[in-house]
Amino acid sequence: MKRIIVCALALLAFFPVLRADEGMWLPVLISQRIEDMQAHGFRLTAEDVYSVNQASLKDAVVLFGGGCTGEVVSRDGLLFTNHHCGYGQIQQHSSVEHDYLKDGFWAMSREEELPNRGLTVSFLQRMEEVTAQVLKGYEPSMSEAQRDSIVRVNSAAITKSIVNPDKGIRANVEALYYANQYFLFVYKVYRDVRLVGAPPSSIGKFGGDTDNWMWPRHTGDFSIFRIYAGKDNEPADYSPDNVPYQPKRFFTISRAGVKEGDFTFVYGCPGSTKEYVTSDEVRYVGEVSDPQKIALRTLRLDIQKKYMSQDQAVRIQYSSKNASVSNAWKKWQGEAKGLARRGTVASKKEFERYFRAWSRTNQYDGLLDRISALYEKRNPYYRAYEYYTETVRTIELLSFASNVRTALTAGRPVADVAERFFKDYFQPIDEEIFVAVMDAFDKQMDPAFKPAWFKDKLAAYGSLAAWRDDLYARSLFTDKARVLALTKDDLKKIDADPAWEMYDAFYQWYRADLQPVITEVTRDINLAYREYMKAQMEFQPDKAFYPDANMTLRVAYGKVAGYSPSDAVYYSPVSTLKGIIEKDDPNIFDYDIPQALRDIYAEGGHDDQPVCFLATNHTSGGNSGSPVINADGHLIGINFDRVWEGTMSDLAFDPDFCRNISLDIRYLLFVVEHIGHATWLFDEMRFAE
Ligand code: ARG
Ligand code: ASP
Repeated sequence: MKRIIVCALALLAFFPVLRADEGMWLPVLISQRIEDMQAHGFRLTAEDVYSVNQASLKDAVVLFGGGCTGEVVSRDGLLFTNHHCGYGQIQQHSSVEHDYLKDGFWAMSREEELPNRGLTVSFLQRMEEVTAQVLKGYEPSMSEAQRDSIVRVNSAAITKSIVNPDKGIRANVEALYYANQYFLFVYKVYRDVRLVGAPPSSIGKFGGDTDNWMWPRHTGDFSIFRIYAGKDNEPADYSPDNVPYQPKRFFTISRAGVKEGDFTFVYGCPGSTKEYVTSDEVRYVGEVSDPQKIALRTLRLDIQKKYMSQDQAVRIQYSSKNASVSNAWKKWQGEAKGLARRGTVASKKEFERYFRAWSRTNQYDGLLDRISALYEKRNPYYRAYEYYTETVRTIELLSFASNVRTALTAGRPVADVAERFFKDYFQPIDEEIFVAVMDAFDKQMDPAFKPAWFKDKLAAYGSLAAWRDDLYARSLFTDKARVLALTKDDLKKIDADPAWEMYDAFYQWYRADLQPVITEVTRDINLAYREYMKAQMEFQPDKAFYPDANMTLRVAYGKVAGYSPSDAVYYSPVSTLKGIIEKDDPNIFDYDIPQALRDIYAEGGHDDQPVCFLATNHTSGGNSGSPVINADGHLIGINFDRVWEGTMSDLAFDPDFCRNISLDIRYLLFVVEHIGHATWLFDEMRFAE
């Protein structure tokens, strides 16, 4: 008895039921959190946040493209998201003559708004728990294969009656809590979304990769789009006859500003977290995976940067690619460091010690050992797989060969693939990366996994430089005219091409030597986690468990707050235009602001113009572009990042370090007015008193 009491006390002390501000909650269950939100200052009701019976805040939030969030801010479908979320579209419309990335873009009327092929926004219509329907017919005595097939059949039956491509209705059943629960998500997808405005990158990406994931931050990370619909307000393909979408609900904008301690609430779509994994996985991520991927990406980034600094055209071509390589690279550095600083492996081990003691007498006895054994089996294979994806798969020529081949065999036009590829391809970068990453592959790959094909080939060439010279001289994929001339009858020619040959040889190796084990063990790990998740809920019955992120809509609430990144340093939570001027330097690309901004500042009176702010909302990749909302439900900012020291929040939330970074909505208004001179957009926005 005494043991149990000591155990329970220790649990409470070491593993608080929930760390302050941790959690990304399902809107449909928000009534379970609303009292706590109100206790922290929120003045609206659960129905205001999420409702299927009346328009609620959820109707003003969208999944933007496949990986960001956006918010509707006018009755004519005007939409805010981040500059980095609209980056691909802004870049697609850019050329050396119209460099919208560099100079910004501002439609001065609706006619000037630019359509974007392939871009969609998805409104969540409703979500609901469907666990009982999904598992109908399942008995615990059944095998996993039987369970899978029941889940598949039942899920398909549920979505089948809902999906309606003509009306843009998409539905899916998602497994949450490692498939202990299932939820149905129904979306309406609009597919005519036009670019309305974007600041110059020297504002929208101010600080570039130097400041990315960091505070103090001064990035004006926003872009503006508009959703269009058919005359019936329903989703429609792009047409000049389409009209602005009339939303059920849009955000009122507050210009009242924020101060430390204010309630904030982020409504958006975080992509992926792993909050409930064991110490084995935390150790693998922080000590093996992150460091090896960081080292490999450093090689590529250095090469890209060298060529980008020499030529403006190359800078445009590689800006988007470089930003995405660099983004995860920096995030992983903060994550590995944060996990080490917080001692997450040790604290998870401590937790597991109590869990083991508790499970000794129940059906979960031995579960943690089983999970450990599975990781031990998986890790060498997974390491090799990550080596493959961060080396061979990053060579652009090889992936291009594969994409062309796929298009040809599927009867799709090669021209599309080729145009897109060559627009942003600079062969010297690819050649240099080829040697750098394949050298790393050769020297660092576990010899037990190195494919024989690679060893033989390298031996035959004598060096990677010789291999490179031959590959890029002989492959037809370096030559646009030759690629455009390809037809279905040329498959033989492609099969003999050295770029396709290399792509395919490695792919076959991956399929034969790595994938089977990885697939099998990953399935077993997920099964074990289904048990472990359930067990954790039984072990800590008083804890509120939020499901790991999966790109579905969530609510995260907290407050505006600074933090102390290191001894004797405190970061206050609001940055201003003064800080931009302090960083301004025409000789440093990332800090070279537009002359117009210098001029406005010189007029005086703008020192205190707010730019960004920090808060304690639990966010993740995918929350970019999310509305940041105040106690009255008004829009005060646009979420775009987290601080580097807190990126471990995807595995363990640390209230002392985890901060999300938002653009202050007043800086967006300032830039639209003074830089874009696009004040016509203000007429359709609604401002709080
Ligand atoms: N770190 C932010 C996020 O993960 C912003 C990334 C875009 N900016 C950049 N400099 N790469 O998406
Ligand atoms: N910048 C991220 C995004 O694009 C947000 C984050 O990771 O905090 O979603």
